[in-house]
Amino acid sequence: MDHFAYRDGVLHAESVSMTRIAEAVGTPFYVYSSATLTRHLTVFTEAFAGLDALVCFATKANGNKAVLNLLGKLGAGADVVSVGEMHHAIAAGIPVDRIIFSGVGKTRDELAAALTAGIFQINVESLPELESLSQVAVEMGVEAPVSIRVNPDVAADTHEKITTGRKENKFGIEWINAPAIYKRAQALPGIAVKGVAVHIGSQILDLAPFRATFQRLRDLILQLRVEGIHLERVDLGGGLGVPYRRSDPSSPPPADYAAMVKEVLGDLGIKIVCEPGRLIAGNAGMLVSKVIYVKEGESRSFLILDAGMNDLVRPAMYEAFHDILPVDEPAADAENAPVDVVGPICETGDLFARQRLLPPIPADALVAFATAGAYGAVMASTYNGRPLIPEVLVDGDRFAVVRRRPTLEEMTALESLPDWRC
Ligand code: LLP
Repeated sequence: MDHFAYRDGVLHAESVSMTRIAEAVGTPFYVYSSATLTRHLTVFTEAFAGLDALVCFATKANGNKAVLNLLGKLGAGADVVSVGEMHHAIAAGIPVDRIIFSGVGKTRDELAAALTAGIFQINVESLPELESLSQVAVEMGVEAPVSIRVNPDVAADTHEKITTGRKENKFGIEWINAPAIYKRAQALPGIAVKGVAVHIGSQILDLAPFRATFQRLRDLILQLRVEGIHLERVDLGGGLGVPYRRSDPSSPPPADYAAMVKEVLGDLGIKIVCEPGRLIAGNAGMLVSKVIYVKEGESRSFLILDAGMNDLVRPAMYEAFHDILPVDEPAADAENAPVDVVGPICETGDLFARQRLLPPIPADALVAFATAGAYGAVMASTYNGRPLIPEVLVDGDRFAVVRRRPTLEEMTALESLPDWRC
């Protein structure tokens, strides 16, 4: 459920019309709904009531400081994958004892930064990483709180670019090698073995692969106990999918997911950590853009927008579907016709939707891409010399720009001519 709806014929984020924001900040822009973020986090957290659970929002999905601050105040931690994300989460006010550092290629500098900050957990994904972390921790005279990310070799039925839990994927330590790695970890100085972690992919709409994975975790936890290694936490990763089609809002309810977790792991007396990203932020954000031209071609019509693949890359990168809503509510009897919705970038792949059935939308009208709150702004680039677009947070009837559009001068400010050109 989200808080975007038509009111008096105009699309609103909570009680603020998209038109009002567009007039204030220009287009394109991202807009996030505080009420939706709050609802998604609360529903997910409450689903785990009765278990010792920590929800660490995957900041890769939406790293905006205001969004992280809002979620942090509601009790969320953060799952980060770079020193940049860690810095951002801390700057947003997320307590370090709720921060997890994931990722397959953390550098020694990043590991040292994580230890200096004193975060909750470092998820280690390979033997060389474990050995580096041990050395860094010993040099610093500290102990690193470690969970080993295992690769359960479970197929998740999702886009091949976002599946991570097969043995041919680069992530985690192969399932069968896990017990040996735990023994090695216990023997290494500077390493405090805390738990086990997984993450099998993203936008997963079926609970079966999660269940198979968590069952494997259960087996591993019990096997390690027999060998004298008692884990205190299990990190389940993220990955729960969300509905991208407003006409078909079916996706597994968090309550079903949590019930399954309780069923498989609930009796182990172990802390549960989750890293949801998309589930919290996806349907809490939209990208609003203006139609620059309507181009009627011989064979098809194009809606040419002022947003491009640099602003929202998911359709170009994963053939992802995003609902496109006219900001002015179409008349009930408006006839839909197929149209290609494209951006202004000089690439054929700058195509948001091919032959999408839409009502007539004139030049200068606004359109909104739904479910753009996760993996939207964070994946944007300045390709074609286009400034990153503003992000706006709505709360009831008020809104604030929580990332402003840079000036063109700021865009070139980090570049310089070599001294031999001066
Ligand atoms: N934890 C780890 C270790 C991850 O790698 C990810 C996402 C998450 C948690 C959060 O997963 P979520 O709950 O959001 O599914 N850019 C792609 C998605 C890439 C996801 C990568 N890992 C997209 O736009 O669909």
